[in-house]
Amino acid sequence: MIKFSSYLVLLILGLLTIVHSCKHDPVVPQTGDNPLETSDSCYSDTVYFVNDVLPILVSNCALSGCHDPVTAEDNVILNNYNNMIQSDVVTPFDLGDSDLYEAITETDPDKIMPPPPASPLSADQINTISTWINQGAKNNFCEGCDTTAFTFAAVIEPIINSSCTGCHSGATPSGYLTLVDYNDVQTIALNGSLEGVITGATGFEPMPFNANPLPDCKITQIINWINDGAPNN
Ligand code: HEC
Repeated sequence: MIKFSSYLVLLILGLLTIVHSCKHDPVVPQTGDNPLETSDSCYSDTVYFVNDVLPILVSNCALSGCHDPVTAEDNVILNNYNNMIQSDVVTPFDLGDSDLYEAITETDPDKIMPPPPASPLSADQINTISTWINQGAKNNFCEGCDTTAFTFAAVIEPIINSSCTGCHSGATPSGYLTLVDYNDVQTIALNGSLEGVITGATGFEPMPFNANPLPDCKITQIINWINDGAPNN
């Protein structure tokens, strides 16, 4: 809360500066300079930006030609927290004033994000993002992750869905590779490419593409599942 209120103070100071400066000055963007809040355990009623929201943005929005730093379509960049805040698409605690939320829940096919032919975000993904905004749109991260838990349904599939499926689905999946169901994931698990890409092993393109690697704990969970024979459990 202290961090959030100092962020508000900065924002108000920023607005005052704009009001006091010459009308022709360019508008000073919000700095979005919010330090990461790390929690030792993950609470199930909290949505974490790094764990839960960023993977959705990276695989559905921050793509080349869209909201990556190079293209910056509509001046919106969604590849990390600070760029997202500077893009002014999220207002903490206020869904109605958050263009990000409006875009993903839009019913007009000309306005919805991601635009067709990409599929809209799932109800779960929209719920994750709206809960996170309602909880203050914090730059937060939790470390709790249990490497002894690695069933497909409870652990592996959610990782793939949030970090991989956005690019690896639809009519023109990245790398001509579709990762939407168990069989798709089993294939790359058994032929070695899943472990190769998530660990960035020699000869593999590191995945998620052009983004930070998965957290170590998730990589370990996936490797444990592969070593277990990649079962559909
Ligand atoms: C931002 C989009 C994006 C995301 C997210 C992404 N990929 Fe990819 N993936 C690509 C692209 C683009 C290629 C083709 C790369 C190339 O051939 O240079 C690719 C290729 C691959 C390949 C074949 C690469 C090889 O070297 O054989 C595998 C396997 C793969 N991805 C798995 C994954 C997995 C697993 C995840 C999630 C952890 C993931 N991808 C997340 C875009 C993405």
